[in-house]
Amino acid sequence: MPQIFTVLGARPQFIKAAPVSRAIAEAGMTEVIAHTGQHFDALMSDVFFEELAIPKPAYNLEINSLGHGAMTGRMLEKLEAAMLAEKPAMVLVYGDTNSTVAGALAASKLHIPVAHVEAGLRSFNRRMPEEINRVITDHVSAFLFCPTQTAVRNLKNEGIVNGVHATGDVMFDTTIAAVARAKGRSTILDDLKLTPKQYSVATIHRAENTDDPARFARVVAWLEDAARSTPIVMPVHPRTRKLLSQSGVVPAGLTLIDPIGYLDMASLINQSAAVFTDSGGLQKEAYFHGVPCVTLRDETEWVETVEAGWNRLWTVPDYAPRRDIPDYGDGKASELIASLIRAALEA
Ligand code: UD1
Repeated sequence: MPQIFTVLGARPQFIKAAPVSRAIAEAGMTEVIAHTGQHFDALMSDVFFEELAIPKPAYNLEINSLGHGAMTGRMLEKLEAAMLAEKPAMVLVYGDTNSTVAGALAASKLHIPVAHVEAGLRSFNRRMPEEINRVITDHVSAFLFCPTQTAVRNLKNEGIVNGVHATGDVMFDTTIAAVARAKGRSTILDDLKLTPKQYSVATIHRAENTDDPARFARVVAWLEDAARSTPIVMPVHPRTRKLLSQSGVVPAGLTLIDPIGYLDMASLINQSAAVFTDSGGLQKEAYFHGVPCVTLRDETEWVETVEAGWNRLWTVPDYAPRRDIPDYGDGKASELIASLIRAALEA
């Protein structure tokens, strides 16, 4: 019987889980992983398991490419069956995707305590599917591991105070490990013939940017404008690739490439002049690599990056004065989470 049943499904979850799974094993606990299949392309999934040495999932549910209801519903059903078979002492979920909320709901209905890594984030925009997923997950979780003090405050404002821990950000742990491993292994700058600090990196995938054609056109126009001063490399998410090929739009000044693995992405960001993105993770990764970011959204959950002058919304012309962000911790968030889980399991 495993002590911990972990639900993964989408790219950002693989990145967050890598250091936590390692810390769980090092702390002597047993973990079984269920991959919902939400992300399924080799470049969206397998490469992360290989590069980040994530343990092989015991369950591959292969649920993807469906609407929110069908996707979450099928995950709920299959995860419940797997949890009933495994009888774990705790279910671990990450972030804010449909896989997260399905795992949290399945576990809570079976009265298995849920631990949520990256708890307490809020955009206060309930039109984002991620916001709904986060709010629900936090409200059914017994252990809430918050990356920042802002996240702790957000939970308090919703009446959630028990089981809340400010742990730092596990993505910082992953970044530190990736920078060391990428050296000598990633050749992406040479492959794309890029000169350090002479290019920017862009990513677009959020439904709020891709689902409305007028909004998507505005984002592309913004990137084309930015590319006039510095060329842009854009690894393209399958959702965005589909949209670009349907609309026939070929953005000027942008080099579009397939999704890339974590080590290549770390190298690409590390040597870039700027990052333009609607991804939550990349906003922080830009900061971890000491690169300024522009967030192509109208709000962000990662308000510290904006307050500390490393990030700005595309609607705001200037950065705040720049300073360090202590909240994200010292690269040992995963170890702290593993020790808190162990203490909870032993209690
Ligand atoms: C999901 C998350 C989002 C997260 C993102 C990270 C939800 C509601 N959204 O969005 O919060 O930021 O992951 O990338 O859970 N596709 C492929 N191959 C893949 C993955 C996706 O072709 O490997 C296609 C799917 O078939 C679908 C589209 O991309 O048509 C969107 O995928 P989906 O998993 O629904 O949402 P994401 O946009 O990836």
